[in-house]
Amino acid sequence: MSGEIEVARRSAAIRVLEHLDTAEVVGLGTGSTIEIFLKTAYDKLARKTLVTSSIDTTLVARSLGLKLVEPLAIDYLDLYVDSADEVDPLGRMVKGGGGAMTMEKILASAANLRVFVVDELKVVPKIPHSSPVPIEVVPQAISIIKKKIESAGFACRLRVPHGKRAPVITDLGGAVIDTIPPKNWEPEDIARFLESIPGVVGHGIFINYTDILVIGRLSGQVEVVSYRR
Ligand code: 5RP
Repeated sequence: MSGEIEVARRSAAIRVLEHLDTAEVVGLGTGSTIEIFLKTAYDKLARKTLVTSSIDTTLVARSLGLKLVEPLAIDYLDLYVDSADEVDPLGRMVKGGGGAMTMEKILASAANLRVFVVDELKVVPKIPHSSPVPIEVVPQAISIIKKKIESAGFACRLRVPHGKRAPVITDLGGAVIDTIPPKNWEPEDIARFLESIPGVVGHGIFINYTDILVIGRLSGQVEVVSYRR
């Protein structure tokens, strides 16, 4: 990550701190931006009940000395903080570069306020732009699901660890297929189609999950967009 991108993300992460004052139960996304947020917000986070969306974030949080509870221990979050691979002006996002999109969506769905932190390079005119749309599937259904989506015009690639043939397995036991949907499909149509396929556990199209988007500019300036009605 370049120094400018890190500055952009850190400046944006600082703007999330104000939302921590009134939050008790806080959910954390996955990825390098969230790692920056954890370090930036450490003092405030240390006094909260924290729940993570992945083993990855759990390990980062624990290495910083933060205490966590299991997702099973909570049924409501005051605040969920995460990033995205791409976000468009309607606040629609592609997520799942880190393969944690299913749990991220579950935690976001249970939160009173959802704040997403991005650097300006992640803002695109319309999703999906250049990031693949990942889908998490029951591993036994990989071939059947791949055929279904390819027949609908999606390009598909099973996510595999470097040098391996067997798929990456998520924290939830799923395999990840990275897809490029047909160009003329709207994000809502992509989401509806993927959700109609048996064996699809989750996908990386997030619609109506963004309450507040914090965009860090490479200059260090920050723009805050509210989607709350
Ligand atoms: C993980 C995600 C992440 O939010 C997304 O991949 C962005 O990660 P990073 O902050 O490392 O750019 O959806 O599943």
